[in-house]
Amino acid sequence: MDRLRPRTLAEYIGQEAVKRELSVYLSAARSRGEALDHMLLTGFPGLGKTTLAQVVANELSVNLKITSGAALERPGDLAAILTTLEDRDILFIDEIHRLPRACEEVLYPAMEDFALDFVVGKGPGARAVRLKLPRFTLIGATTRPGLLSAPLRDRFGIVFKLDFYDEEALTLIVKRSAGILGLSITEEAARLIASRSRGTPRIANRLLRRVRDFAQVHGCNEITSRVAEEALSLMDLDPLGLSPLDRRILETILEKFDGGPVGLSTLATALCEDPQTLEDLHEPYLIRCGLLRRTRKGRVLTERAYAYLKARRNALPF
Ligand SMILES: Nc1ncnc2c1ncn2[C@@H]1O[C@H](COP(=O)(O)OP(=O)(O)OP(=O)(O)O)[C@@H](O)[C@H]1O
Ligand SMILES: [Mg+2]
Repeated sequence: MDRLRPRTLAEYIGQEAVKRELSVYLSAARSRGEALDHMLLTGFPGLGKTTLAQVVANELSVNLKITSGAALERPGDLAAILTTLEDRDILFIDEIHRLPRACEEVLYPAMEDFALDFVVGKGPGARAVRLKLPRFTLIGATTRPGLLSAPLRDRFGIVFKLDFYDEEALTLIVKRSAGILGLSITEEAARLIASRSRGTPRIANRLLRRVRDFAQVHGCNEITSRVAEEALSLMDLDPLGLSPLDRRILETILEKFDGGPVGLSTLATALCEDPQTLEDLHEPYLIRCGLLRRTRKGRVLTERAYAYLKARRNALPF
C-alpha cells in the first residue's frame, strides 16, 4: 500500500480543471444513486491515473477491482472479472491499450448494454446467450491513447488527460508527503525538490525519499535547501531535473546525428536503450522543456537544446 497516495479528491493536488469537472460528475452520480459513466484517463507515467481511479472509488464508496490490459489474455479472463462485479463497482483496467482485440470485443456490450454475450454449444445446436451484468463503471488508463481503437475510445463518456504538474503543485505534494513520512522540511527545500521533479508526482516522491536517506545518513533533523541541494547533486540531476540519460539523449543526437532528424529506433540503438522507454519516459519531458522536437522525419534538437548543451559544456571543469 502506497502511503503517499491521496485518498480523496481534496487530497489530490493539482489537475484543477480535471478535479472541477470530475467533482460535478461524482455529485451527479451520487445523487442519482447511479454508476458513474465510463472514464478514460490518459497521461504520461506517474502523473496520477491509478491514484485518481482509487480516489473516485473512495469518493463513491464503491469497490474497485484492478486489472491490466497486459494481464487479460483471453476473453474468458475478462468475463471472469466482469461477473464478479456488484452494482456501481469500478473496474480499473490499467494499460488498456494492451488489451487484446478479442477481449476488447467482450467489453463493447459490457460497457454499452451491461451484458456479456457468449455462445453455448457447438454446431447446429449452438446458441447465443446474453448474461446481464450489474451497472458498473469502467475506468481505463493509458499512457498511449493513440493506440486505442476508435470504437473502444468512443465508449468512454468521460475522458481526462492528465498534464504535467507545475512547480506550485509539486511543492505542495512534496510537503504533504514529507508530513506523512514524518519529515521536517523547509519551504525552499520542498520547492527545490519540486523543481527537479520533471512535472511528475511520482518523481517528486522518489526524490524526497532519496533526500531523506541523505539527510538521515548525515544526521540532519531538518531537510533544508542545502541538504536537498547536496543530495540532488549526488544524483546528478541538473536544474531542469534532467537525468544523465536525458542528457545522453541530447548529446547523442548532437554528436552522432548532427542534431537530427533521427528516427526513434536508430536513436535507441545508438543509446543501447529500449525505444519505448525513450518515448514514454524521456521524450515527453524533453519536449515539454523545449529541448526536443518530434518531426515526421525523426527527432530534432531545438535551438534551446544547443544553448543548453553549450552552457553545460562551459560549466564542466575540463
Ligand atoms: N495529484 C496528486 N497529488 C498527490 N500525489 C500524487 C498525485 N498524483 C500522483 N501522486 C503520487 O504519485 C504517485 C504516482 O501516481 P500514479 O501511480 O497514480 O501514476 P500513474 O499515472 O498511474 O502512473 P503509471 O502510468 O506509471 O501507471 C502516487 O503513488 C502518488 O503518491
Ligand atoms: Mg498507474
